Amino acid sequence: MGRKLQALTRESMEHNASMNTVMTERLNVSGALLVKLFGRHSQERDGFGATAGRVRDIGVRSAMYGRTFFIALSLVGAVGAAVLYWLGAQLVISGAITVGTLAAMGLMVVRIYTPLTSLTNARVDVMTALVSFERVFEVLDTPNPIADGPDAVALQTPKGRIELADVTFTYPPGDEQLSSLQTDDAAPEATGQPVLRHVSATIQPGQLVALVGPSGAGKTTLAALLIRLHDVDSGAVLIDGTDVRDIAQESLRASVGMVPQDPHLFHETVADNLRYARPGATEAEMESACRSAHIHDLIASLPQGYNTLVGERGYRLSGGEKQRLAIARVLLKDPAIVVLDEATSHLDSENEALVQQALGIALRGRTAVVIAHRLSTVANADQILVLDKGELVESGRHDALLAADGLYAELYSTLLRNEQRVPAETKL
Ligand SMILES: Nc1ncnc2c1ncn2[C@@H]1O[C@H](COP(=O)(O)OP(=O)(O)OP(=O)(O)O)[C@@H](O)[C@H]1O
Ligand SMILES: [Mg+2]
Repeated sequence: MGRKLQALTRESMEHNASMNTVMTERLNVSGALLVKLFGRHSQERDGFGATAGRVRDIGVRSAMYGRTFFIALSLVGAVGAAVLYWLGAQLVISGAITVGTLAAMGLMVVRIYTPLTSLTNARVDVMTALVSFERVFEVLDTPNPIADGPDAVALQTPKGRIELADVTFTYPPGDEQLSSLQTDDAAPEATGQPVLRHVSATIQPGQLVALVGPSGAGKTTLAALLIRLHDVDSGAVLIDGTDVRDIAQESLRASVGMVPQDPHLFHETVADNLRYARPGATEAEMESACRSAHIHDLIASLPQGYNTLVGERGYRLSGGEKQRLAIARVLLKDPAIVVLDEATSHLDSENEALVQQALGIALRGRTAVVIAHRLSTVANADQILVLDKGELVESGRHDALLAADGLYAELYSTLLRNEQRVPAETKL
């Protein structure tokens, strides 16, 4: 029975986990929006119903097994007592034993039987609890792939010099390394192809570097390596001459600020979201960061100003507004290096101009790596790195690269065309 219940418990935990996955993935705001957009309500409802049904069935089944076991144990006890008294009473009547002996026997059977039952129950309890232990220890035993070394140093007053020395990087096969967290439909696929190959570059403190390249070239990946979200396969990423693997992560992340392509806001007030970057920030500091990021006027016009709830379940800022708020958040953190993944779309020309101005202020006096999709950023850069299929194919300044007539010149003409199209569309 212990083994049976153990198997059932394991299965029930797996079903619970898959139901949790469905809930966090599909029933959040973006997931629900996707369901609506494609009109898949009934399929999603059926799918969720089926998963919930499995959770229910397994719950009922293990409860039934548990109850049956309990009833069987009690039944054995009750029948045993009845048999004892029936046979004993006959022996008493025939005069073979006394009433006292029978009473003592009855008492002793109960005394022995109760601990025996508890022992049996304990065994079943321990066996089912072991399943939870297995799962907990599986998580605890998984090594942290990005851990601080024993002699990791803190960056003191970082200057912001970045060096990429022959960086090659391959994504590890699947983010999920825990076998019990893997569901059939989320099996990891190892492509095994390096996403970045032998990339070398040097960025001086205070420089504005534009990272350009076709979609999927590895720009976001390269940016993630600067803040050590992953470790390189070979080569090294150095900040101020120190390998990022030898820098204490807390100090690394304090020195490098990143504005992702699609920044996330928590379901908290604007002020709380800003203070996430620097918990002790005063109202005046927040306001000045927001003014620099050209978002203060918008926040001030919200019903509760800086105390307006934003995020998925609150007031939903537009893509450009979110980016500007994320820039304000990074400004408040005041890092030596800013990495910015420019949003590819959803910026009208007015918004774009605001973001552009915000950036001009945000990047002053810092090293900036901007994954650029806009001409204005690229043309102003001190250095342009052109990535293609994970390789650094060209680098240099705008004019020199244009004259070289390579991939950059080609990308430039597309950017130019896109940019010319924007005003035409806004006129409509
Ligand atoms: N977590 C991941 N696991 C495996 N492969 C990934 C992962 N993230 C990205 N890739 C792959 O790495 C390559 C580079 O992706 P990356 O996001 O760096 O491109 P990008 O240059 O930023 O493109 P875009 O301009 O569209 O944002 C792509 O081929 C992508 O499929
Ligand atoms: Mg990207």
